[in-house]
Amino acid sequence: MKSKKLFDLASRYMPGGVSSPVRAYMPYPFFTQHAKGSKIYDVDGREYIDYCLAYGALVLGHRNEEVKNAVTEQLEEGWLYGTPHEKEIELATQIIRHYPSVEMVRFTNTGSEATMAGIRLARGFTGRNKIVKIEGGFHGAHDGVLVKAGSGAATFGIPDSNGIPADSVKNTLQIPFNDANALLTIIEENHAEIAAVIMEPVMGNVGPIPPEKGYLHDIRKITSENDILLIFDEVITGFRLALGGAQEFYGVDADITILGKIVGGGFPIGVFGGKRELMELIAPSGSVYQAGTFSGNPVSITAGLKTVEILSRENGRVLRRINRLGDRMRADLSAILDEAELEGYVSGVSSMFKVFFSVEGKPVKNYDDALGCDKARYMQFFHRMLDSGVFLSPSQFETNFISLAHADYHIDAVENADADIERTIEAYRENIL
Ligand SMILES: Cc1ncc(COP(=O)(O)O)c(C=O)c1O
Repeated sequence: MKSKKLFDLASRYMPGGVSSPVRAYMPYPFFTQHAKGSKIYDVDGREYIDYCLAYGALVLGHRNEEVKNAVTEQLEEGWLYGTPHEKEIELATQIIRHYPSVEMVRFTNTGSEATMAGIRLARGFTGRNKIVKIEGGFHGAHDGVLVKAGSGAATFGIPDSNGIPADSVKNTLQIPFNDANALLTIIEENHAEIAAVIMEPVMGNVGPIPPEKGYLHDIRKITSENDILLIFDEVITGFRLALGGAQEFYGVDADITILGKIVGGGFPIGVFGGKRELMELIAPSGSVYQAGTFSGNPVSITAGLKTVEILSRENGRVLRRINRLGDRMRADLSAILDEAELEGYVSGVSSMFKVFFSVEGKPVKNYDDALGCDKARYMQFFHRMLDSGVFLSPSQFETNFISLAHADYHIDAVENADADIERTIEAYRENIL
């Protein structure tokens, strides 16, 4: 097995043999040779339908032809200028058009950088130090938010990373998801000290957990009434739930919006944005510092622009088509669990889905519920799916994603439109027992 050999070699030179923890799973991860559309191919010549999709970045699938052409043209012009350029304005305009709560943006290179800067901005604006974070929320791997974090931190049972001084997280308060009263309590206990609430409007890093009806509205109301800024980390949900992200989908505006993944079209990016009075505090207009050599690089911006253009086609129908595949996937998976009378819970929204191996099939509403699921059973199932040619996200706590490449590209086509989805559902049926 070439993957095994490469993993042994990689493990000598890189911790765990990987460049990001959640890519590592037992006994070794497959090494990728190439990828195209909905498929990823390993160095041993195996083909997998990919539902990991670079953890949600590839909403059009791998190597989309139009994005590739746009990027290739851009490469002829240059790939890093270190100066302003016109396409930054174009992408900023697209974001502002779809997110009415955003009047100005700053481009960064990753979602982590964007959340770090968004929190700094909230503190700079309010003059307060404390932030409230949701248990199991993942906002990147920087000190202030690596407390009870989701993603790899949950997978590997490292809720609080070593190497982070207690002082760095003393201002990070935690509340459970889907519990607006918990926010009221923590505000009472920390009166007038809280700068912001930072949250993923749909929890994406402990598996997809959508908000219960009214929850986001309650959080919006409580934060507004207490002059606390609301930061929506839409790194996963942005340009996914709708072009205007969770804010459009649920009808709730944030004060600071964080984007990433999709908006870079598969190239590194992060964005934070908000109303003018807030954003003008960012250097050089204001005194909240933020900077980056590669920020706004023309390759990421070009790929992002093309991706947003494709998703927006036919009044957003392209994106809605992807989301309908999610509806179908969740409905069929629920039917499989019901028919087989299996303990499990199908969760998700739009193009996000997951089967949680929860006790007695109990609904999963927050971090504690997710942690109560059967991780070992999930990993056995994950390997059986791999053997059947389906690459799911390699953790009970990571979301599976669907891309445009999983649908027939011609959105009106009926025949064979969902061949990947059908094969996948069949594989679930065979392997989930
Ligand atoms: C919700 C959320 N925020 C922030 C991040 C960090 O983004 P990046 O990996 O680009 O730094 C992630 C990454 O998975 C994420 O899912």
